[in-house]
Amino acid sequence: MTSILILNGPNLNLLGTRQPEVYGTTTLGDIEAQCRAVAEDLGVTLAFAQSNAEGALVNRIHDARGTHHGLILNAGAYTHTSIALMDAISSTEVPTIELHLSNIHAREDFRHTSYIARVAVGVICGFGAHGYTLALQAMARHLETGA
Ligand code: DQA
Repeated sequence: MTSILILNGPNLNLLGTRQPEVYGTTTLGDIEAQCRAVAEDLGVTLAFAQSNAEGALVNRIHDARGTHHGLILNAGAYTHTSIALMDAISSTEVPTIELHLSNIHAREDFRHTSYIARVAVGVICGFGAHGYTLALQAMARHLETGA
């Protein structure tokens, strides 16, 4: 069965109370529940994780090789800084979608740079919590058809 890992980076454990005007009021637990329902409909296995530590995220990406067919990554602020995460994705060759709740391109200049986008199949941003289920649908389709 197709298996997809949704991996969340720093500060995303605070969703619901963190800058709700930017990120909304949906908690990460709510998002996980929504994703699990969509994964069931799509007939895919879902793993869902969060870490505030860059090295732990690198390890999770390494472990995805041979375990998960696709990766959906909201790397939070590491998106804009982490060559290590970019290299981890390149090294493991697990197809990856970069995901953000907010539209990073409409925000501060430093958020316009993404190391993840360079190695991602595609990018979804600006749709809030709904972006997670959009990314799941996009990844399931990508893995099935290559689109
Ligand atoms: C974010 C955008 C990042 O710039 C920010 O550092 C985050 C959240 C988003 O989901 O909109 O932590 O990845």
